[in-house]
Parts: sequence; C-alpha cells; structure tokens
Amino acid sequence: MNQKNSMHGAIAEPLQGLARMAWDQAESLCDPQHGCRNYHRTWSLVRLLSLNGALPGASAFFIEEIARRITAGARRILISGSADTGLLAVVAQAIRHAGQPAQIVIVDRCKTPLQQCRDYAGMLGLPVEFHACDVRALQIEPVDLVIAHSFLLFFPEPDRQQVIDSWARLTQAGATVLLFSPISPDEQTHPMRLDRDAIPGRAALLATAAVGRGWNEAERAELASDVARFWNESTGISKMPHTTADNLRRGLEQAGFRVLQVTPPVPESSTNGPLGVNATLTDNRAELIAERI
Ligand SMILES: C[S@@+](CC[C@H](N)C(=O)[O-])C[C@H]1O[C@@H](n2cnc3c(N)ncnc32)[C@H](O)[C@@H]1O
Repeated sequence: MNQKNSMHGAIAEPLQGLARMAWDQAESLCDPQHGCRNYHRTWSLVRLLSLNGALPGASAFFIEEIARRITAGARRILISGSADTGLLAVVAQAIRHAGQPAQIVIVDRCKTPLQQCRDYAGMLGLPVEFHACDVRALQIEPVDLVIAHSFLLFFPEPDRQQVIDSWARLTQAGATVLLFSPISPDEQTHPMRLDRDAIPGRAALLATAAVGRGWNEAERAELASDVARFWNESTGISKMPHTTADNLRRGLEQAGFRVLQVTPPVPESSTNGPLGVNATLTDNRAELIAERI
C-alpha cells in the first residue's frame, strides 16, 4: 500500500473519477445478458452525491472484524460481489488497521465494478486478484475470509444455497464469512419500502449536483432518468425467499459453517446504501459472522 494512505486517517477513495469511469464505460463493459448496465452506471454516482461518498453500510463492523482476523493470521480475503470500490476501500482500511499485508481477491460477474476496483487498487498500490465470473464457478486457492454485502438477496433459492456452498468449497476449517444483509421478519416481506413519489424530485436534485462535479449540462436529463430508473428498479433486486435471520443461519449451517452471530449486539446506524436513498429498509440488519467447521 503506498505511503500516502498507509499512515494517516481514512483511506482516500477518489469516487468522483471512479463514478465517471463507470458512467462512461458500463455501456461497453456490462454484459447485456445480466441487465446490470444502469445499476453499475449509477451506483457510484449515487453513493458520491446522495451519500456523500459514504462507505457501504456496516463498514465499522467489517473493518474491525477483518482487521481482527488479519492479526490472527488470515492472509487471503475474498470480496464476493462488489457493486463498485466501496468494499475494496473497506478491506484496504482493515489491512491498514491490522498493519499486516493480506491478499485481496475480488469476484464479480460484471467487468464494470472490476475495472473500477482495478483502477483503485493501482492507486492504492495494492496487489489484488480479479475474477470476472459467477461466484459459483470461481476456482481459486482457498481463502481465509469471505466478505459479502447485500449479495445473497440477489439470488432466489436454490441459487442462494449454491452461492453459500461455493464459499464453503473455497474455504478451509477455521475460515470466516462476514456478511451484511437487510433481514425481513419473514420470507414473504420485502426488505425495502420504496417511496416512489419522491424519486423524480430526488433524481433531478442529484442531476443538478452532478453537473459541475464531472458531468456537464448536456448530460442532465440522462442523469435524472438513469438515476430515477436505478431507484425504481431497486425493489426487483431482492429475490424470494427474502433473507431472514433464520434462512441465513440455516443456509450457512447446511454448507458446513458454524454461525457465531447473525444480528449485531448493538445495531450500528449505517446508511441504507445507494438503493436505500429513496426507501426505508427493515430495521433489522444481519452483521453475520460464521466460521468454517
Ligand atoms: C454485492 S451486490 C451489492 C454490493 C454491495 N452492497 C456493495 O456495497 O458493494 C452487487 C454485485 O454482485 C454482482 N453479482 C450478481 N450476481 C453475481 C454472481 N452470480 N456472481 C458474481 N457476482 C454477482 C453484481 O454484478 C453486482 O456488482
């Protein structure tokens, strides 16, 4: 990690440039089959302007738990799905806290967030392994730590269990899964309540904020419509059965993990992330810790 970042304060994340890169390149990098172009084109932009560049939710949980495990000897860390550079910034911060090196591995089926992470890792001087594939097809050396953030809700069953089984396949006894997810009171209740009426106004405000922050006047209308679409489509991301404390615990135990914690002893107030700017999420969050048996 280069000198500027290693010693002092939070790790810098030049999100404006990284957001502009995704806005410009998602068209060519995102696979149309995945339908993620608008999601990846706007994710960093919304995090930059609606959340003032905040790190992903529960970042304190991740930084503390990752640093604890690096200090205890963890050397290979898998980020399982990363919408942009937010999770890489979190892991880089934890490595700095631990004061010991670790190898970061990032898997995402889409090339856009991987390209953002490649650029950012270069700036940080951090060696990172990148894999553009479905996590269920990932073939790598075992990892000591798996990081997942609002990832499992992308998958219906039985795909979700296949993802967790892949984490088991990629880890050995003693390895850890750290996972953040909104959790519903039951499998039928959607974790998000979207305020659709507020979206057009908020999208117009965001477009105004973007003009002069790396975007120009001619892009205002496209900004507003793409960001409005990002928020309107956000409820479609969470697949049935919606994630609950029970089905998360069951899925991990079924794959050979011992679940040490599902919800945090003291809930940490965290942002709802770019998807939650226009929505209220369930109060319950999983900050889950599981150990490979
Ligand atoms: C992990 S989630 C949410 C991101 C997280 N909340 C964050 O702050 O970075 C989104 C990512 O998962 C990726 N993804 C979805 N299905 C996948 C799969 N089967 N294998 C690998 N990555 C996948 C998407 O391309 C997207 O970039």
